[in-house]
Amino acid sequence: MQNVRMILDVDTGIDDSMAILLALKTKHIKVEGITTVFGNTDVAQATRNTLQVIEVSGVPYEVPVAMGADRPLVREWRGPVTHIHGNNGIGNCELPMPKGKPLAESAAEFIVRMVNTHPNELTLVFVGRMTNLAIALAQDPSIASKVKRLVIMGGAVKVPGNVTPVAEANISGDAEAAHRVFESGIPITLVGLDVTMQTIIGETERLQLMASPVPGNEKAAAFIGEAFKFYFEAYEKQNGFYGSPLHDPLAVAVAAFPDLVATEEHYVRIETKGTMSYGATLVDFRRTVPVTNASVALGVDSPRFLDYFINTLKS
Ligand code: BDR
Ligand code: CA
Repeated sequence: MQNVRMILDVDTGIDDSMAILLALKTKHIKVEGITTVFGNTDVAQATRNTLQVIEVSGVPYEVPVAMGADRPLVREWRGPVTHIHGNNGIGNCELPMPKGKPLAESAAEFIVRMVNTHPNELTLVFVGRMTNLAIALAQDPSIASKVKRLVIMGGAVKVPGNVTPVAEANISGDAEAAHRVFESGIPITLVGLDVTMQTIIGETERLQLMASPVPGNEKAAAFIGEAFKFYFEAYEKQNGFYGSPLHDPLAVAVAAFPDLVATEEHYVRIETKGTMSYGATLVDFRRTVPVTNASVALGVDSPRFLDYFINTLKS
């Protein structure tokens, strides 16, 4: 299996934490760095959470962390999503103080440097707002042709949104940034609510994830169990079921195993002007277009993904 060299951009976040653990524990992924952004929580807290999750994972190599944007490109930040992710972003779980520190360079500077140093080798996985990448593209537009692939958790193409009737949180959290990324020419795979809402886990899987941890994985297993408990309770209050979709982990999984999803080539446009449709991911299904900008995931092998997720997080 070919190694996937990855930069992961997160707004850590409960499902972001699970995405980080999945990336760090997948044998053929090498996480070359994690960049952080505002979103589920503020960027300082997201950075601290990221360092803590890396340390709990037991990953055997050094993972640089670069702190990024603290607000959208042009609009106001609407504030942390405490009712879903808790006051600290990770379901109010208390993890040990991190020993590591973020790099002195910003997330955007880190992305520009890494992509230029390793042209056509890095897969970027963005599971928060796309602000850091929009800033990186403004600093050096040439990186667009040097990224191997960008996998985005975001958008809702054929299904309803989750923050408005038509918009998903990561895109509507900074639609101007998303617009710049989608118009940049980077090869994109879009892993949106169309597929993530089909990857639901519940209490049976949570108990499996916590049961009989392998030596060295005890702290991670306890964290996974506690954080999912908070997430499931939040989903129950909001959506009426005790469980949750695995939004961000699915994006990491697709970077590792692209054939987990069935994709179609489309030109995705981001709505930045609408009062009711701000942040929508629009595809014109009336006709085929000569130029496309994204492989849009519309089907997913959920049982295979769930097996991989559970087996890897237990390792
Ligand atoms: C996305 O929004 C955030 O709350 C999650 O971490 C995920 O990235 C889902 O819409
Ligand atoms: Ca996220």
